[in-house]
Amino acid sequence: MKFKKNILCIGAGYVGGPTMAIIAYKCPQYRVTVVDINPIRIAEWNSDDLPIYEPGLDEIVHATRGKNLFFSTDIAGGIRDNDIIFVSVNTPTKTFGAGAGMAADLQYWEKTARQILQYSQSSKIVIEKSTLPVKTALAMEKILNYTKSSVSFDVLSNPEFLAEGSAIKDLENPDRILIGCRETEGGLAARETLVEIYANWVPKEKIITSNIWSSELSKIVSNAFLAQRISSINAISALCEKTDADITEVSRAVGMDSRIGSKFLSASVGFGGSCFKKDILNLVYLCQHYGLHEVADYWEGVVIINQYQQERFIMNMLTTMFNTLAGKKICLFGFAFKANTGDTRESPAIYITRRLLEEKAEVIITDPKALKNAKADLTGMEGKFSFVEDPYKAVDGCHAIAVLTEWDLYRNLDFRKIFNTMTKPASIFDGRNIIDHKRCFDIGFNVYPTGKPALTHT
Ligand code: NAD
Ligand code: UGA
Repeated sequence: MKFKKNILCIGAGYVGGPTMAIIAYKCPQYRVTVVDINPIRIAEWNSDDLPIYEPGLDEIVHATRGKNLFFSTDIAGGIRDNDIIFVSVNTPTKTFGAGAGMAADLQYWEKTARQILQYSQSSKIVIEKSTLPVKTALAMEKILNYTKSSVSFDVLSNPEFLAEGSAIKDLENPDRILIGCRETEGGLAARETLVEIYANWVPKEKIITSNIWSSELSKIVSNAFLAQRISSINAISALCEKTDADITEVSRAVGMDSRIGSKFLSASVGFGGSCFKKDILNLVYLCQHYGLHEVADYWEGVVIINQYQQERFIMNMLTTMFNTLAGKKICLFGFAFKANTGDTRESPAIYITRRLLEEKAEVIITDPKALKNAKADLTGMEGKFSFVEDPYKAVDGCHAIAVLTEWDLYRNLDFRKIFNTMTKPASIFDGRNIIDHKRCFDIGFNVYPTGKPALTHT
């Protein structure tokens, strides 16, 4: 069959996989190929056990794979045969050299640019899907257009705004699609080609365009604003705990101001995920680079409060459990960084586990989707920890439960049954405020919510 467009995506991760699956699903007239250097990941995308858990993803992949959606390790062939190339490789925080711990590590991204140059036999549109520091497109253009030949490249910025756990819903019905381009004939034509792809299912008024630098920067700023809201409400949760105010009541009252809005005002044990921290640190680094030290300090505060919130959670456990956790069994309800995903990257659960083990507690971890990743995260960590799928079995003999992920499953457990199997006094530390605190208190638990007065018998 002859397809109207041939689209390639380099990087088959949490973004590349679902994004391309949706393009294939919404545009049967296009052929979409996703390539990756990791053969195991590609094999998993081609199997019945996809490498990531995302509600609705299995159905979309099953409907398209082998028809107009293909997963492959043939990066050279993919570049050669496709004229529209999305780049969705990882851009983690740099761990070495200048900017370590702050700047984006662009090595995967740069290798990809060089591969595109090496294998291209015809002109291409290259689309930045990864989150990148502002001005990265300039570097990409320099690499791609280094050798003068008849093959030319137009670079677009098209950041992705999906959130894990709701990726399919977000991709099917995005708030906006942002496309940044150079104001050149080639840049504008490339932009039109990309607009045409999205227009297959996204209303035209939601497809917005900008200059390429605004587009790159808007992505990082969006994440910074979202994370800032969480740190703001988490900071206030600390004040609530000192003053008998209730953070749920405060965020409801504040969020009902239509200028503020109610989303992203849930106090928690802290935000996790692969992007918020990395993107804010990247923003901080950029500001420092440009000598904007006050701006850098302002944004760094968001990350500092997030760290503070996690440490506060641990200190609360320690002080309320008679200042010693040594030998006590603590059950973690949830290890994923949020509900409806198996992803544990930068999950507060990793820090909480490490700190509990430092205090010589025994940690029992339960999670419906994230145990495989949790095991990998904790490999080599010193101390006593184990993984139990069934929450009722996991709590057996424990002194405390720490709710770290807002899985619906934990809202509706039989807490009387749980209480009966635990060591007394039994405590619940609700890092997500999802369980019925009054009911658990009435059963006999000491209950420590986040940003609300504790309910204790002792
Ligand atoms: P990921 O680690 O899940 O996937 C990246 C993939 O790229 C990996 O499978 C890796 O093997 C592959 N890769 C690296 N170098 C390669 C190369 N040279 N050739 C081929 N493949 C290569 O990362 P992700 O979560 O999908 O994130 C990708 C980008 O999207 C990041 O910049 C991230 O900030 C951004 N982003 C992520 C999310 C999210 O929810 N995870 C949302 C929006 C934006
Ligand atoms: C976030 C953004 O929401 C996406 O728009 C963006 O595309 C993505 O980062 C990215 O660039 O990677 P994600 O990290 O997948 O998406 O999930 P979020 O729903 O934003 O949650 C992030 C963290 O904040 C989670 O740990 C979550 O539990 C926490 N959170 C969220 C709170 O603690 N309180 C809230 O009110 C909301």
